[in-house]
Amino acid sequence: MLASDLDPTRIPSHIACVMDGNGRWAEQRGLPRTDGHTAGEQALFEVLDGADDLGVGWFTVYAFSTENWRRPADEVQFLLQFNEEILLNRQRELHERNIRIRFIGRRDRRVPQRLVRRMDEATDLTRNNTGLTFTIAFNYGGRAEMVDAVQQIIDSDTRKVTERTIARHLYDPEMPEPDLVIRTSGEYRVSNFLLWNLAYSELVFSDTLWPDFRREHLYAAIKEYQDRDRRYGGVGGPEA
Ligand code: FPP
Repeated sequence: MLASDLDPTRIPSHIACVMDGNGRWAEQRGLPRTDGHTAGEQALFEVLDGADDLGVGWFTVYAFSTENWRRPADEVQFLLQFNEEILLNRQRELHERNIRIRFIGRRDRRVPQRLVRRMDEATDLTRNNTGLTFTIAFNYGGRAEMVDAVQQIIDSDTRKVTERTIARHLYDPEMPEPDLVIRTSGEYRVSNFLLWNLAYSELVFSDTLWPDFRREHLYAAIKEYQDRDRRYGGVGGPEA
């Protein structure tokens, strides 16, 4: 599958990814699960490059969920450290490529202050970039996001709540709804990812484990998306 097999006029403007299967990839090789996450970093940046080259405007990944705290303490510790290192090592390069880095998720006491500072640094450094927006969902849960939105609405004494009110109180109100959500590793679940935003997203599931996911897999997912007929509950496009 090549980029030239895609219709350049129908590239999704927002792709969101559940990078699943790192642990299984490692276990299949007799390696510790954490080696799977390390291998997943290369996949992530290759797919991000591929998306950027295609002109995708928003690319969002699920890096750590509100449920991931339930993993063994050493894996949680590894993931916290790993995310921090990735930010440290990659933010310059992303900045030079005009990529804007953003985060969605809860900033509760469990997220180490050092990591919070790194997230703020990466956000500040790349704030005015005009290229692709790379959003990292960290300590993110779709239900938690809705709870936090409702709490803010109550605190602001709003009397009339519409869908727009809720959308305005999400972690990143500027983030458009994903056109395409990709989940790897043959798991067919949404797992609390972007619950509000993916109401009309096309979901594409790939059997490939995340560390093996490459540009060609991204192209295949986009091809599948382009072959779908998006009706938004109506009979034609979004305006119909
Ligand atoms: C799921 O695999 C993957 C994760 C929990 C983390 C993936 C994180 C990265 C690749 C780094 C992202 C970091 C930044 C800063 C963008 P799994 O462990 O659930 O695999 P399994 O289902 O096979 O057990």
